[in-house]
Amino acid sequence: MPNIVYIATSIDGYIADKNDGLDWLGIVPNPDGNDFGFAKFMDDIDALLMGRKTFDVVNAFDGDWPYTKPVFVLTSTLKNVPAELAEKVFLISGSLQEVFKSINDKGFSSIYIDGGKTIQSCLEEDLIDELILFQMPILLGGGVPLFGTLSNQMELEHRRTEVFLNAIVKSHYVCKR
Ligand SMILES: NC(=O)c1ccc[n+]([C@@H]2O[C@H](COP(=O)([O-])OP(=O)(O)OC[C@H]3O[C@@H](n4cnc5c(N)ncnc54)[C@H](OP(=O)(O)O)[C@@H]3O)[C@@H](O)[C@H]2O)c1
Repeated sequence: MPNIVYIATSIDGYIADKNDGLDWLGIVPNPDGNDFGFAKFMDDIDALLMGRKTFDVVNAFDGDWPYTKPVFVLTSTLKNVPAELAEKVFLISGSLQEVFKSINDKGFSSIYIDGGKTIQSCLEEDLIDELILFQMPILLGGGVPLFGTLSNQMELEHRRTEVFLNAIVKSHYVCKR
C-alpha cells in the first residue's frame, strides 16, 4: 500500500478518444515542458500495475521505454514479453487480491495503477487508496471511460488541487475507509 491511480481524463471522463487516440493529451501548449509532477510521482512509487491494453499502447510508442520502475501487466492473453523489455515488464494474472499480494511480496508497496478497466476492477474490489486525476479542458464525447459502475459508493477526501498552464486541473484524492 498505497495503490495510486495517476491518470489524465477529458472533462467528460474519458481516458482515450473514440479511436483509442491520445492526441488530445497535448491540446494545451506547454512550451517549457512542465511535467506536472510526473518525475516526482515516479520517484515515489515502487512499481506499476497496468492493463494489457494500456501496455499495448505504451509498447507501440516511438522511443525508449518510458518507465524506470518495474511494470506488471495484468493479462490473461499475453504469453510473452518482448525480449528488450524482459527485465522491465512482467506479466501477471489471477484474482486482483492474488496479484497485489504477489507484487507486495516482491517488496513493492507503492503501486501506480494504470488503464481504465484495470482501475475500474481495482475500485470495485476496494483496492485503490489514492486518485491523482488530471482533467484536460476537452469534451471527447465518447471513448474509453475512466470510471464504470460500482457496487458501492466510495467517498473520497480531497487533498489538493493545482491548476497548470491555467488549463489543466490536477486533483489529489484519498479514498476514505
Ligand atoms: N489518459 C491517460 O492518461 C491514459 C492512461 C492509461 C491508458 N489510457 C488509454 O486507455 C486505453 C486502455 O484502457 P482499457 O480500459 O481499454 O484497458 P486496460 O485496463 O488498459 O486493459 C484491460 C486488459 O487488462 C487485462 N485484465 C486482466 N485482468 C483484469 C482485471 N481483473 N480487470 C481489468 N483488466 C484485466 C485484460 O487483458 P487480456 O485481454 O490480455 O486478458 C483486459 O483486456 C488505451 O486506449 C490507453 O491509451 C489512457
